[in-house]
This record gives sequence, structure tokens and C-alpha cells, in this order.
Amino acid sequence: MTPARAPAAETGLSTSTEADKSPATTKNHLANGSSGCCADSVDNDVELFDSKILFDLDFSNPASDYRGMDLCPKTPGKGLRMRALRRGDFQRGYVGLLGQLAHVGEVTERMYKDRFDGMRNCPNTYYTIVLEDEVHHKIVGAATLVVEQKFIHSAALRGRIEDVVVLEDRRGQDLGKLLMDTATLLSKTLGCYKVSLECKDKLVGFYRQFGYQVDLGNNYMIQRFRN
Ligand SMILES: CC(C)(COP(=O)(O)OP(=O)(O)OC[C@H]1O[C@@H](n2cnc3c(N)ncnc32)[C@H](O)[C@@H]1OP(=O)(O)O)[C@@H](O)C(=O)NCCC(=O)NCCS
Repeated sequence: MTPARAPAAETGLSTSTEADKSPATTKNHLANGSSGCCADSVDNDVELFDSKILFDLDFSNPASDYRGMDLCPKTPGKGLRMRALRRGDFQRGYVGLLGQLAHVGEVTERMYKDRFDGMRNCPNTYYTIVLEDEVHHKIVGAATLVVEQKFIHSAALRGRIEDVVVLEDRRGQDLGKLLMDTATLLSKTLGCYKVSLECKDKLVGFYRQFGYQVDLGNNYMIQRFRN
């Protein structure tokens, strides 16, 4: 989903907070309904979707066992908050976190906000769920559900899970399980007739625990135009 940019620095990511002042980028930004840097600071709390939908999920029977802890979107664990991605989450490290999943390249705060606005302008489509460490104001985990509108299957909805990642030093603490349970349950609750994801061989076991299966006979095909 991230547009290809110049090759990355060693970290695979530029976290520059300076707005990209290129005319094209500024024009895109204004077209998305904001009026400059002052509006930006006001808009930092804007959510990609209404977080309330997460708290209303029926978590009485999650796929995962949380070792006796009663984790759910409302109570994701001590010092944590689960919510929708916000326009200000570049500052809380969301793009840096994605760098632990894949090559991110150069993504400035301006580019992040333009992309956020573009996604938000497609209602009922992008559901990026994040876990925020409320003490350090840092995004420590994230997963995105994309809901595709189809004509087939009686004009059905189809879910795709993308960009699942937990901060390296927070792994093994059930955060990935909570994000996956939430994204999967959200897809079902929104009425998707199916939900799928792509993963490396070594993660098939991880995703099986949430009910995903390798779809024998069907193949994942790809044509890559750039890295
Ligand atoms: C995959 C990832 C999201 C898991 O997050 P996490 O917070 O460490 O996971 P959790 O602590 O919630 O769950 C770990 C559980 O899954 C199991 N698990 C983890 N990796 C597994 C694997 N490859 N195969 C089978 N089970 C696995 C663990 O044994 C553990 O089970 P347990 O709770 O019964 O002991 C995290 O490792 C990550 O961000 N990896 C890098 C990015 C990435 O590869 N994302 C997936 C893209 S498809």
C-alpha cells in the first residue's frame, strides 16, 4: 500500500517530520480538506474509523487463549489502549513500526497524512487497528483490515488482513493474538463472507490459531513492478 520511493536509508525508513513541500503533495493535501499546518495539529486526533466499533465487538469467545487474562479491545492490557489509527500517529511511531514488517522507504509526516486522508476518504474500507503504549505514547502493535466491495456472492464484502506487526521488544506478550482476534472478528461483524491474508511459510502456524487455513488448490500469484 505504500508508494515506492527512493531507496531507504540503513534503517529502511526516514522519520523526517518536516512536511514535504513539493507542490504536488501540498495540492493533494489541500484537496483532502485541510488548510495547512495549523489545521494539522487540530486534526491529529482524527481517527481512520470510529474506534467504538472495536469496543462493541463480541469478545466472549475469542480464538486465542490469553493465559487466563481477560484481554479484549476495551482492556488490552496494562498501560495499553486499542483504537483506530489516528492522523497524529506518525509522531507515535506507526510508520517506524511498519519498518519492522517490511521495507518502508522514505515516508515523511506529510506523506503519511496525505495517505491517511486518502484512506479515510474511502469510508467502510480501511480499518487500521493499533495498540498504543499510553505511558510512552508509542504505537506498539498494529493490524489492518481492508474491506473490499464485490459484485459476486450477492454483492458481498470480502476482508483482507494486512500489515500485522508488533514492536520487537513487545513480542510474545499476546499483542499479536489480540490484534488478529480483533481484526478477524471485525471482518465477520462487518459482514465479510470471507477474510484472507498472505504470510511467509514460517507464520502459517501463527495464523492457524485464529482459524485461517492454507487454501489448497488456490495459489497466490504476483507480478512485481518495483521493490
Ligand atoms: C507475528 C507477530 C505479529 C506475532 O506477534 P506477537 O505479539 O509476538 O504474538 P503473540 O505474543 O500474541 O502470540 C504468540 C503466539 O503465537 C505463537 N507463534 C508465534 N509465531 C509462531 C509461528 N511461526 N508458528 C506457530 N506459532 C507461532 C507463539 O507460540 C505464541 O503462542 P502461545 O501464546 O500459545 O505461546 C510478531 O512476531 C511480528 O510482528 N513479527 C514481525 C512482523 C511480521 O512478520 N508480521 C506478519 C506479517 S504476515
